[in-house]
Amino acid sequence: MLSKTTLVSLTALGAASLALAQTNITASVCADPSAFTTCSTKVLTESTGCMDICAGNKICVLGCGCAMYQGYMNCVAESCWNQAYSCEYDELVAEYFIECPVATQPVPFWPAPDNAPSGCSCNLGKIVQSVIKAQKEYNSCITNSSTTSPIELANKDTACGCCEVSAGLSAMYETCPDTIPSDMGADLWFKTATLYGTVIDWGTCGSVLDSYKCQNLGFAPPSSKSNTFYKPNNLPPNGTQTLYNTGAVTALTAPPSGSVFSWSQSTVTYTVTASPWKNNDVKATGTGASGASGSSGTAGAAGATKTSSTGAAVSLKQSNAAVWLSALSVLIKMTFA
Ligand SMILES: *[C@@H]1O[C@H](CO)[C@@H](O)[C@H](O)[C@H]1NC(C)=O
Ligand SMILES: *[C@@H]1O[C@H](CO)[C@@H](O)[C@H](O)[C@H]1NC(C)=O
Ligand SMILES: *[C@@H]1O[C@H](CO)[C@@H](O)[C@H](O)[C@H]1NC(C)=O
Repeated sequence: MLSKTTLVSLTALGAASLALAQTNITASVCADPSAFTTCSTKVLTESTGCMDICAGNKICVLGCGCAMYQGYMNCVAESCWNQAYSCEYDELVAEYFIECPVATQPVPFWPAPDNAPSGCSCNLGKIVQSVIKAQKEYNSCITNSSTTSPIELANKDTACGCCEVSAGLSAMYETCPDTIPSDMGADLWFKTATLYGTVIDWGTCGSVLDSYKCQNLGFAPPSSKSNTFYKPNNLPPNGTQTLYNTGAVTALTAPPSGSVFSWSQSTVTYTVTASPWKNNDVKATGTGASGASGSSGTAGAAGATKTSSTGAAVSLKQSNAAVWLSALSVLIKMTFA
């Protein structure tokens, strides 16, 4: 659970960076381009209306932002499910976890399985999961007062922060050694990690991490690939590749969650019906995504027959306002608890 100070920091961060966001997924690569355009336009219009009503109230704007990202995820599930493992969807979910304090796992299609069809060259979902874990470990680390001397405690808190930053960075360097670290959010991580409580100057963490073992402070191995907590002076060389999708846009031949599925955030439950394949341009040419290699366009055609013939739809047991209110009420409880 986030502390009150954390939420205040988050709110400040939100005020600085939260704005209307758009997905970077282009409709032309979607299973049903026109449904995706309609869906994302609707989300943007509703979010604009929601943020207007907030009249600058930051908690209110955060609530609108949560609803906005959930809306975009529904658009992908509905009409762009073939991009569910793409870098662009990974980035959308990463932003959701950064900007929406009530975001909880699980969210659809995330993290992508390893070697997913048309998956991102770097599994950003796994990195974001590691970063979320590092933040939780930091919170329990600073509240674990198993030492009593104030000097010891102050040093330990610094160590907790260094371990947090190290855990996030180590997960990035180990999970995607070939990817440019800033493309995995390394630079944002330096900034966001320091917002959670004490300011951590990563450059000075070397000596701190020499005297404290992160494992002994309650930190789990940073990634499934390694239990190394890197220090400023022993980080592996930076990768050099930008993010790219590894397969053709038609590589995923059927909606990964089946044609109808439900998912929930706070008290809201969505039921999403995936659209069958309606992208004739992509089916005809079999054009791949950027940096694509792999299977040809025929896969998409096969996928179309597997899905139901009903059109795309997102149904919500509550009204749209309820989505935002649900996020808002959780935020308010967190602030005033
Ligand atoms: C879309 O791309 C822009 C420019 O690269 C980036 O600033 C923004 O964060 C991206 N949005 C999402 C949701 O990925
Ligand atoms: C490696 O990437 C990090 C994070 O973006 C950056 O701060 C650092 O300057 C890079 N190192 C080199 C040698 O380019
Ligand atoms: C608290 O700290 C002690 C020693 O610093 C460590 O052994 C223990 O695992 C920590 N407890 C939790 C819950 O992290």
